[in-house]
Amino acid sequence: MLGIGAYRPQRVVSNAEVCETLDSTPEWIFERTGIRTRRWISGDETLRSISAAAGERALVNTGIDRTKIGALILCTSSWLKLTPHGAPTVASDLGLNGIAAFDLTSGCGGFGYGLGVAADLIRAGSVDYVLVIGAETMTVGLDPNDRGTAMIFGDGAGAVVVGPSEENGISPTVWGSDGENAEAIAQDVNFLEYMDRAQALQGTDPSVEAIGRMALRMEGPRVFRWAAVTLPRALSNALEVSGVSKEDIEVFVPHQANARINELMKKNLGLADDIPMANDIENTGNTSAASIPLAIEEMLVTGKAKGGQTALLLGFGAGLSYAGQVVTLPPAPKEPSFGA
Ligand code: COA
Repeated sequence: MLGIGAYRPQRVVSNAEVCETLDSTPEWIFERTGIRTRRWISGDETLRSISAAAGERALVNTGIDRTKIGALILCTSSWLKLTPHGAPTVASDLGLNGIAAFDLTSGCGGFGYGLGVAADLIRAGSVDYVLVIGAETMTVGLDPNDRGTAMIFGDGAGAVVVGPSEENGISPTVWGSDGENAEAIAQDVNFLEYMDRAQALQGTDPSVEAIGRMALRMEGPRVFRWAAVTLPRALSNALEVSGVSKEDIEVFVPHQANARINELMKKNLGLADDIPMANDIENTGNTSAASIPLAIEEMLVTGKAKGGQTALLLGFGAGLSYAGQVVTLPPAPKEPSFGA
């Protein structure tokens, strides 16, 4: 990873604001998730604009001549159209029209999948440089009354430029999925069912409030149980395939789904107490496929981690899917995302 960039939406939403609608308390939310605030898009901000903004910062921070970028991978589950998919439009917004550009949807594990595909594209000689963007506007499918999701998700985008290097900076990817538990994180209706709902209201009230959102639902405790069994194995495998020992890990960047899960994972893996662990969830919430690049960026900007350090990454979520690598962190960004 040669450079990193991120975009954090302008609007900061506190737990107290979430609780104006949700039947919960700010204390419960912080206790059970570790979240204090999250950012939600507002005004002109869209998935397209925040993806391009993060991508632009990654290009600027890398200092690369952008004509060298051969592919763009947009990791997201919140691009609102299946056709056209998002990556070609974002590529053109970045002055990269014409390059290979595709979306990759793998829930909160999406960035790990994208990073793995990018590294393998480069190793195979298909391209020299890839821009990987993890971006989400989770709020477009958020039911503000749902106790299982409303307080958790946020919006944001993070991006990295991946390219060739003398030393291997991205290990083979450790990844997998469990379709038998796929319904544990799912939209409550598909497109056809949603159309039926809207059709039934035609001539009466066609507003989103009346039709309802195509909302994301999560069976939190079921995901928690899956995570407790699957993720420790994935983390050990990541160490094994990378040839790096536990003692060599300098930074731990798990997906920002729940600070309590992450503390447990770190303890169970036996990482030393003083190894810095990402805790971007506190002020960013769970941004799904954007969470890992956002968390890395936050650690580099605040000095909790340094460019060149060896980090263990693990993304997980819808699918249920996971993907992780041992990586060398990119240099700290010259143009940080805070205050964006
Ligand atoms: N506010 C207040 N109380 C709530 C609540 C909320 N938002 N949600 C649930 N509760 C209550 C329940 O009613 C229940 O009350 P009871 O004990 O009186 O019956 C209690 O809190 C425990 O509910 P539970 O659903 O077991 O909560 P939890 O401790 O599992 O926390 C999550 C919920 C979603 C925070 C947690 O399950 C989680 O983070 N799971 C994993 C998510 C994950 O890793 N996702 C993958 C990536 S997206």
